[in-house]
Amino acid sequence: MSDKSEMNNTAAQSGEEPIIRVSHLKEYFPINTGFIRTKPLKAVDDISFSIREGETLGLVGESGCGKTTAGRTILHLYKPTEGDVFYRGKPIRTKQDITEFRKHATMVFQDPYSSLDPRMTVADIIGEPLDIHHMYGSKQERRDKILELMDRVGLNSEHAARYAHEFSGGQRQRVGIARALAVDPDFVVCDEPVSALDVSIQAQVINMFDELQDQMHLTYLFIAHDLLVVRHISDRIAVMYLGRMVELADADEIYDRPLHPYTKALMSAVPVPDPKVARANQRVQLKGEIPSPLNAPSGCPFHTRCPYAADVCRESMPAFEEVEKGRFVACHRVKEVN
Ligand SMILES: Nc1ncnc2c1ncn2[C@@H]1O[C@H](COP(=O)(O)OP(=O)(O)OP(=O)(O)O)[C@@H](O)[C@H]1O
Ligand code: SF4
Ligand SMILES: [Mg+2]
Repeated sequence: MSDKSEMNNTAAQSGEEPIIRVSHLKEYFPINTGFIRTKPLKAVDDISFSIREGETLGLVGESGCGKTTAGRTILHLYKPTEGDVFYRGKPIRTKQDITEFRKHATMVFQDPYSSLDPRMTVADIIGEPLDIHHMYGSKQERRDKILELMDRVGLNSEHAARYAHEFSGGQRQRVGIARALAVDPDFVVCDEPVSALDVSIQAQVINMFDELQDQMHLTYLFIAHDLLVVRHISDRIAVMYLGRMVELADADEIYDRPLHPYTKALMSAVPVPDPKVARANQRVQLKGEIPSPLNAPSGCPFHTRCPYAADVCRESMPAFEEVEKGRFVACHRVKEVN
């Protein structure tokens, strides 16, 4: 993204300082390709965007496009290869910045089975972040905080002394959410928090995220595979492909009128209840496989699968630009194809 479009990206968002601003963020993993030779796997490759206080920004894209890596790098669970993350206007750079940021920004993980230590009690799992950040004055205060958090996520106090492995997936995820909320954060990265759960309880947990957002004034980056779940919970949605952001727009707009050829293909696969809309919304079949991020195509990373690809697409990378107010697209031919 050019600096100009990045400024617009921020300015387009109500003029207030966003809670999170991501600027030219890159996360490259060195991969061994032979004896002492490595090659960078560009999991996140130059993404820039902002999140307003109180909003939910959905993040979607096929498996392996870099959603989890983006979430983890924003929280500095991975050290960025390049680029910056600003929290309320302040860049996160030093160790001290990261420690301070962690009191305000946390993550709910996809898999409640592997992300919770089975040898710890629920009280200790939820209490651990309180211990790390010295967030209580007495044992009683610690206990009260843990019980309050359990109550918020719908667990009762008898669960406190039990072990995570004794619980169902839905209950474990409630423990994971209580743990993420223990530091009283205002920004939470939710990484596919319901995709490992039974369909029957996904809606309950999604509704809980909605309620917690209102009660605790949270801002979410909500990563998901299920496009209907993301639409339900998000104010705006960002679409990633091969480590890059290709479109960012208001949630309803992006479903009803996707502008980027990749978004068009993704959205055409979403079932719609109205058959008239379904007919107009002909399914776009993508040809070929997603290329490996170790060998990303030249120019536009989508050109090997895009039905509209032209010479320019193979030669140069399209900028992520504001094509309508508050709407960003990375495509050379966005005008011709819409
Ligand atoms: N720690 C790591 N070391 C090396 N490569 C990694 C690492 N983590 C992720 N990758 C690679 O980076 C790319 C992006 O992975 P990531 O997990 O961020 O994708 P994702 O969009 O979250 O996928 P999914 O929808 O399957 O969760 C993939 O090619 C993945 O194999
Ligand atoms: S830049 Fe070209 S290849 Fe890329 S999405 Fe647009 S039309 Fe398709
Ligand atoms: Mg992931």
